[in-house]
Amino acid sequence: MNKKNFLIDANIEQYCETHTTPENQTLQQLTRETNLKTMLPQMLSGKILGRLLTTLVELVKPQHILELGTFTGYSAICMAQALPENGLLVTIDNNPEIETTARKYFKMSGLEQKIRLIIGDVLQTLPDLNMHFDMAFIDADKEHFPDYYPLVMEKMNPGGIVIVDNILWYGKTVDAEQNDRITQKIRQFNDLVQADEQVTNVLLPLCDGVMVVWKKNVRRESRKNN
Ligand SMILES: C[S@@+](CC[C@H](N)C(=O)[O-])C[C@H]1O[C@@H](n2cnc3c(N)ncnc32)[C@H](O)[C@@H]1O
Repeated sequence: MNKKNFLIDANIEQYCETHTTPENQTLQQLTRETNLKTMLPQMLSGKILGRLLTTLVELVKPQHILELGTFTGYSAICMAQALPENGLLVTIDNNPEIETTARKYFKMSGLEQKIRLIIGDVLQTLPDLNMHFDMAFIDADKEHFPDYYPLVMEKMNPGGIVIVDNILWYGKTVDAEQNDRITQKIRQFNDLVQADEQVTNVLLPLCDGVMVVWKKNVRRESRKNN
């Protein structure tokens, strides 16, 4: 178990992990190195969320994926491994210290051609990215989730899917007595999504709370209506 989960009983989480398709050796090695060499190894998404991301890529079949928050590359590899040969994952992180490790494991997993790593701040780099995406994973700093939402949605193709981690924030999001800045920003993000008429969404009480947002396929719906 890597990401410490405060919402789900440890025995239940362990059982879920042992009944989930296991990680490959590269991901195991990446997890070990992250635990040994980084200050906050619990940031790594881990087995269950990682496998969920792989499964979603297998189901949604995106051509282009956007990730905000690379860290040492675990979730990027989980998604890129299910991309088609000509697919591309663009992942952004503002910490230059993660670059060597992330690139090492992208290469080791044989996925370096499918992954473009941008070292920079999301708010400075994303607006200039001249691409549209079929899937996105938002996992950078929670404080900016409300700022990231419109930027990401603008770059999503109709029918695209956005996954967002840490939406329950150790349960603080639903606790009226918790009003620190990050908790307030996550609530603000959740309200933005809930009020957005261009999407349907489901908040899953999985890991630290995972929001799945689907940008309605307007083109397909309007074709249906004609
Ligand atoms: C939770 S970790 C990402 C974990 C990764 N997705 C995984 O599953 O292994 C969050 C990452 O976001 C990065 N980050 C934080 N603020 C950022 C910003 N403003 N722009 C870009 N990256 C940022 C951090 O450096 C950190 O590596």
